[in-house]
Amino acid sequence: MKALYAGSFDPVTLGHIDIIKRAAKLCGGLTVAVVTNPNKKAMFTAEERMEMIAESCADVKKLEIMAYDGLLADLVLDEGFDTVVRGIRGESDLASEIQMAQINSRLYNGKAETVFLAAEPGHSWISSSAVREVFALGGDISSMVSEETLSFMKDKERG
Ligand code: COA
Repeated sequence: MKALYAGSFDPVTLGHIDIIKRAAKLCGGLTVAVVTNPNKKAMFTAEERMEMIAESCADVKKLEIMAYDGLLADLVLDEGFDTVVRGIRGESDLASEIQMAQINSRLYNGKAETVFLAAEPGHSWISSSAVREVFALGGDISSMVSEETLSFMKDKERG
């Protein structure tokens, strides 16, 4: 299995970290791709997001982290991934995730499969934008992110 987990991770949350750990264990290793989403205004650079993931997941074996800017299917086919992991937090993720998996299925042309992991119930309400918003307004985000991510957020706030 050569597995990929892609996302914006702006910033990486405890929900993402849970998926990364479980996917790495299930697949015998994992590559995380930090994708630049042109529709989202990012708080962190791709390099900062990669560092946050590396520090938050320092105990995960066989984890690779890369930045990517382009069509996911091109990365999957060019690098020979056969498994693309997605986390599902609840019903609201399902419709869009299934549509994305179906589009990608055409593009993968039988060379890769999308695999869904159900988020831990304790993480199903977390999103990166909620983390950014609560933090910007002075709220406590310690139940949503790792200590390492929190420290990056505080550094960013200090400028
Ligand atoms: N725990 C916590 N948060 C989670 C989560 C989990 N398990 N799963 C998803 N989320 C959050 C994310 O933080 C994100 O929050 P935000 O919208 O507040 O930033 C939100 O849910 C959506 O996550 P996701 O669907 O993974 O979006 P993304 O922007 O992180 O990543 C890509 C989407 C990068 C995988 C997708 O846009 C892509 O493939 N882009 C490349 C271009 C491409 O190929 N397009 C065609 C696709 S068919």
